Amino acid sequence: SVIDVVVVGSCNTDLISYVNRLPRPGETIHGSKFSVGFGGKGANQCVMAAKMGAKTVMIAKVGDDTFGHETIKNFKNCNVITDFISITQEAATGAAPIAVDEEGQNSIIIVSGANLLLTASDAEKAIGGIKTAKVLLCQLEVNPETSLAAMKIARDRGITTVLNPAPAIADLHPDFFKFCDIICPNETEAELLTGLQVTNVEEAKIAAKKLLEKGCKKVIITLGGQGSLLATSDSEPVHVPARAVKAVDTTGAGDCYVGALAYYLAVKPDLSLKEMSQKASYVASISVQSPGTQTSYPTRQDLPTELF
Ligand code: RIB
Ligand code: NA
Repeated sequence: SVIDVVVVGSCNTDLISYVNRLPRPGETIHGSKFSVGFGGKGANQCVMAAKMGAKTVMIAKVGDDTFGHETIKNFKNCNVITDFISITQEAATGAAPIAVDEEGQNSIIIVSGANLLLTASDAEKAIGGIKTAKVLLCQLEVNPETSLAAMKIARDRGITTVLNPAPAIADLHPDFFKFCDIICPNETEAELLTGLQVTNVEEAKIAAKKLLEKGCKKVIITLGGQGSLLATSDSEPVHVPARAVKAVDTTGAGDCYVGALAYYLAVKPDLSLKEMSQKASYVASISVQSPGTQTSYPTRQDLPTELF
């Protein structure tokens, strides 16, 4: 059967502390709540696409530890195909200690562990083993060479490639731009990739142009509460505003957006990029209103029927 969305990416266990404000260097502070959740940008995006109803495959590596085994269980509970998630003895499952303050802002430490052992050949073999797929999603939380190899083989096979260049890397290999159909950075990632300041819609337009010049076919810069900016080589850039909501925890909101976008690209290809982005932004606005990463992602039943 046809796979809608393939994700080559990371799995982390998020260890989230809720605090009044983020600690300063050398400081000890009290938190008000602690929770453990499934995270990692790749996993989050894959789970979001699956929650919307996409048929998804995750290609990843976890450690032979509790977090790793639980991660695989979680994917299964979310109906994600786990045939290409391997377990390594050489490293621990990725972990991400996260602090979330009263404004819903976060700071994250990523200890990649097993994620960095996912190789280009693992990705190539897995994608080669999938009969047909519509969309490939990559991020930069595994080795960049692995993501790039995945995008190249996907391109060969006619799969739409989407790159969420997160966490940001300044000296990204130029091939990344050539092999992605859609690049979807946030403001800070767009700044690092272009060397330009991106703090508002006008600046995002200029940065998006620069990303198009680097070879991407379509650019979506997410702008948090300001929505997103879409740009393609053959039309004027479009600003898609987000609806105003009170954020309690924005962790993983970008992944929620990208996962929902992948769902629309694969399952509703006739929608315009603007419509997809409006809908994905609505889904992400729900996720910021409750705590946690994947725990805050809505499922199809929780969403208005107009979104489908
Ligand atoms: O984008 C949010 C994610 O970043 C978290 O789930 C954490 O694991 C880090 O990878
Ligand atoms: Na959230």
